[in-house]
Amino acid sequence: MIIVANWKMNKDLTETRLFWEDFENKITLDSDFLLQKENILIAPSFPFLHHFQTKCSEKISVVAQNCHHDNSGAYTGEVSVKMLNSIGVKYVIIGHSERRMHFNEKDDILKKKINLCLENNLCPIVCFGETHEDRALNNHLSVIEHQLNIIPVEGNKKIILAYEPIWAIGSGKTPSIKEIEEVHSYVKGLYNLPVLYGGSLNEKNANDILCLPEVDGGLIGGASLLSDTFFSILKVANNIMRSKI
Ligand code: 13P
Repeated sequence: MIIVANWKMNKDLTETRLFWEDFENKITLDSDFLLQKENILIAPSFPFLHHFQTKCSEKISVVAQNCHHDNSGAYTGEVSVKMLNSIGVKYVIIGHSERRMHFNEKDDILKKKINLCLENNLCPIVCFGETHEDRALNNHLSVIEHQLNIIPVEGNKKIILAYEPIWAIGSGKTPSIKEIEEVHSYVKGLYNLPVLYGGSLNEKNANDILCLPEVDGGLIGGASLLSDTFFSILKVANNIMRSKI
């Protein structure tokens, strides 16, 4: 089970510190807590990655929300995989729909980012998902298959996929359990990789979604910002893992 908190452009240094103090207490004091650092991933903003890596990486894995597609160069404001590597970050979110939409990231750029991550031993968490229109037209599976053409097929690569229907992100709406099952089974038929679900995942719907055999975890935005709700979701994941032992 892999649970990823994507904080997007939220939390300053004080808020980041306060979250961690409270969250660390919760996971340390809970004697029933099985989840390890490979199960709990947090993606704070770039300025706090190093702080997180230094203070928190014994208990959780630190994730970058993005990286540049070239090794280095005259790209003011960008962050390279080498920089991420040098502070010990091991995961990068690639192709989030917000980056595709607001920063015009296209498949050729995303492919380069994925390859650069793999060459540098960083695990890309590659997001995909249909629009509302795609789903209404029942085109969602072909759209998803097309989006996933950026995934290298040869070799045994360490890649995590994340199904995030665009219409479910931040909307309070989720696909039905059947619809989530359909997409995850389809993608797992194409790629032998873990597939997370993201999009309005919260402490109330977490059990129904995370207990599906085709769902390997969650990618969580809004509900990961408060340590209480994030911890509640982790407890759901924890209980599902415990039930499988
Ligand atoms: P929400 O959980 O806020 O819907 O965001 C999902 C997401 O975009 C995570 O990457």
